[in-house]
Formats: sequence, C-alpha cells, structure tokens
Amino acid sequence: MIDTDDGHLADLIAEYEENGWCSSPFRFTAPAVNLLRMSLDDVCRRGGPEVVHERGSTAVRAVHGCHEFDEVYASLVRHPYLLALAEALTGTPVYVYQFKVNLKQAREGQAWPWHQDFAFWNAEDGLPRPAAVTLAVPLDDVHESNGPLVLVPGSHRLGYLGPGKVTPGDKSDWRRNFAADPEHTMDPGRAHELVGSLGSTRATGPAGAIQAFHPNIVHSSSDNASPDRRALLMVSYNSVDNAPPNPTRPEFLVGRKTDQLKPRWDDRFQLEA
Ligand code: SIN
Ligand code: MN
Repeated sequence: MIDTDDGHLADLIAEYEENGWCSSPFRFTAPAVNLLRMSLDDVCRRGGPEVVHERGSTAVRAVHGCHEFDEVYASLVRHPYLLALAEALTGTPVYVYQFKVNLKQAREGQAWPWHQDFAFWNAEDGLPRPAAVTLAVPLDDVHESNGPLVLVPGSHRLGYLGPGKVTPGDKSDWRRNFAADPEHTMDPGRAHELVGSLGSTRATGPAGAIQAFHPNIVHSSSDNASPDRRALLMVSYNSVDNAPPNPTRPEFLVGRKTDQLKPRWDDRFQLEA
C-alpha cells in the first residue's frame, strides 16, 4: 500500500478552496480500474431504474446508487484515502449522498449544460448547505475530445448563482434531470460571462485519477463525438450534519444512510503516485 500520509492534503485543501476543484497526486492502479469497469458492465446488464439511457437510444447515459448493490462499488466508497480526502475537503465526517457513473459513450454520449450541482441538490432534495464534495474517478482516459468536464475555476466562491429555469425549492420531474436538458441549469449567457472573467479548465486525466469538485463550481461538458468512451465515476460525500431533512427522490439518488461512513481497506484498490 502506498503511503499517502505525506501532508499533501493541506496543499489539496488550499487548491480546492482557491479553485473549487483539485486533482490528487495519487490514482488507482490499472487492476483497480479494470475491476471498476467490470462492475460497470455488470450494472448496465442488470438494468433497472438506476440505469438511464440517452434519449431515443439504447446507449446507457448513467447508472446511479450502485454502491448499495454492487460489492465492488460498496468497497470503493469506503476506501480510506477517498474518505480521508472527502473529510479533509469538507472539514467534517461524511456519508455518501449520491453515487453515479456517467458513461459518455463513444460518439453517442450527450452534453451536460452549465450548472452548479448545489442548485439541483438544494431544489430537489432540500440539501441545506453546499457542505459536500464530489470525488470523481475517470474509468477511461479523459482527453480534450471525449467530453471532459469544463470547469470555471473560482466560481464556487460566488456562491449559489441562481436558477436558470426554475425557482429554488421547485421540484421537477427528477427523471428529466437525467437527460441532456435537465432543470436547474444556469443561464448560458451568465456562464459565458463567467468564463470570460474567470477562465475555464478541462478536467482531463488518466483513468484512475482522483479529482474533487465543490458543489458550487460552475461546470458543463459537451457531447462526445470521439471514438473513445468517457466514463466518469462520481461519489458525492455530504457532511453528516447537512443531510436533507425530508428527501423524496428515490434512495438510489439520495442516500438515506446518513451516519458517518467508516473506512474499510480493500487490497484490490491500490493507489500509485
Ligand atoms: C455532472 O455535471 O454531474 C456530470 C457531467 C458529466 O458527466 O460530464
Ligand atoms: Mn454536475
């Protein structure tokens, strides 16, 4: 097991506070990524309401809440390094609020419009504060052309920037938020102004990388016209004192187990620098 206890967390916290996102110097090894990919295949084959398709297509767009039924993903979300990172970035004990893999299939994966995650979570679930962090692990190499996340660094410091189409507290049909035209997106003009003033960064990186995103960072991603899939696994950890009081969306979208998640070492999930 690689020693991750080298004080690098302080640097990541500083970067995260400044930019609203950061990338760990550690990543999961190729065998660990292969295991995660095999589980993705299993989950897609299994079907069910957790598996969502691109509009008018049989291509899987996303799978949700799989850490509740797939033992590989159940183990991943308890990885001691992921939990240490989530706790360092939120400054509190955490539990899994949301788990998903967005597949962005080669040539078929559709865009995600400009938004802040907190806009969805606050309106749909009543998440009180943006006291959460999303840890992302690409399951494929992410490059400029296969639909990487595009981030506006520092935009999280502007707070919640307001709804594009709906009023906070308005619940939409949650199924619609799976598609390429979800509710709670930002006005594109406002997003482009922010890109003009703050710039933008593409979250590219190798399969197995570990990246962290603030709930208020403004982001989007484009269609994937390339021949390469861009599967991105995302675990949103929420502070235990920030659980939504009365969530109504299904458990595969909003975790109901809100006690502090305990770390569990699993030899299959090795890290490398
Ligand atoms: C998201 O914003 O939640 C996902 C965007 C993407 O997968 O590109
Ligand atoms: Mn998002």
